Amino acid sequence: MGVIEKYAHLLPVTEKTPRITLGEGSTPLVHVDNISKLLGIELWAKLEGCNPSGSFKDRGMVMAVAKALEDGAKALVCASTGNTSASAAAYAAAAGVPCYVLLPAGKVALGKLAQALMYGATVVAVKGNFDRALEMARSAAESKGFAIVNSVNPYRLWGQRSGAWEICEALGRVPDWHAIPVGNAGNISAYWAGYKQYKEIGRIDRLQRMMGFQAAGAAPLVTGKPCPNPETVATAIRIGNPVSAHLAKEAVAQSSGEFNSVTDEEILAAQKLLSSKGGLFAEPASCAPLAGLIKLKNEGRLPAGITVTMILTGNGLKDPDTAMSQVGRPIEIGDNIDELLEVMRG
Ligand code: F0G
Repeated sequence: MGVIEKYAHLLPVTEKTPRITLGEGSTPLVHVDNISKLLGIELWAKLEGCNPSGSFKDRGMVMAVAKALEDGAKALVCASTGNTSASAAAYAAAAGVPCYVLLPAGKVALGKLAQALMYGATVVAVKGNFDRALEMARSAAESKGFAIVNSVNPYRLWGQRSGAWEICEALGRVPDWHAIPVGNAGNISAYWAGYKQYKEIGRIDRLQRMMGFQAAGAAPLVTGKPCPNPETVATAIRIGNPVSAHLAKEAVAQSSGEFNSVTDEEILAAQKLLSSKGGLFAEPASCAPLAGLIKLKNEGRLPAGITVTMILTGNGLKDPDTAMSQVGRPIEIGDNIDELLEVMRG
C-alpha cells in the first residue's frame, strides 16, 4: 500500500485524488548495532533509499503528482540537485504527463541523471546553481501554467510527513533526537509537522529534538545567512538559499534542536564507516547526520544512551563516482585457482 492509501485519513486527499503509487513509503527502520556501540547511543537508520526511485522524495512526490492530476495539470516542472528530478520523472512517467527538470549543470550525481533520462523527462542542465535553477523553474511553471513539484508545493511536505508517522509506529514512541540532512530544508520541516500532528491526535505523548546537519560549504542555516556559492561533495544538499528555511528554523527552535555543519571529509568518512561497519550504503548527503553525531560525540555533546533516528535520505548507488573515489580497485587475477588462493592467504 502506498503513502496516499495508507495515510489517506491524515492527508489532504479527497475522493477525487487519484490513488497513484509506485510502492513508496513503509521503508525499514534498522538498528545500527556496531555504530550504536561506537557512539554509546541507540542508533536507528530509516532506509529511505528503499523507496522506488531510491530516495525519500517519493513520499512527497506521489502526493504532489496526485494533486496535480486532480487539478488537471498538463505538465510537471522542478529544479533539482538530482533526487527530486528522479522522483518527479518516475511519477510523471507512470501518470503519463510530461515532466521538465532543471539541474545545475555538471553537479548532479550520475545515477540520478541516468534515472531522470531513463524515466523520459526533458532534462535541462542550467549553467548556474540549484538556487537559480529553482527560481527559473518557478517562473517557467507560472508562465506555462504547469505544476511545480519542488517542496514549495505544499503537498510535497504533506506526503513527507509519512516518514515521521512510520518512525513512531516502528519504535512505538518518538526518538530522543531526530538527525537529518538539510538542503532546501523541506524534509526537516515535514518531519517536524508529522511528529506534531501525531502528538495532536494522541499517537505520541512527547516530541523530540530536531537535529539538522548541513555541509560546511553549504550551511546557510548554521551561519544564519544565505551562501551565494555553495560547494560540497554532497551534491544533494549543495544549496545556498533554502526555500523552507523559515519552517526549518521554527522546527529547530520549537524542538530545542540544533543546526550543525560537517566538512566534506567528515561526510565521506561517515559514509565509509556506515558502509563498512553498518552494511548500509547511503549517498554522501545522507551521511551528514552520522558525521555530525560523531563530531558531537568527540566534542562531548552526545548524551550517552539516547535513542537517535537518522534519515538515510538517498541510496548510495545514486552516486557511484564519489564512492569509487574513496575506495581501492578490485584485485585482478588470471582465471586460475592458484592466484585466487594467493589472494585469500591475506
Ligand atoms: N538528502 C538527499 C539525498 C537529498 O536529495 C536532499 C534534497 C536532502 C537530503 C535535503 O532535503 O532539501 O528537504 O532539506 N534534495 C533536493 C533535490 C534538493 O533536488 O533532490 P531537503
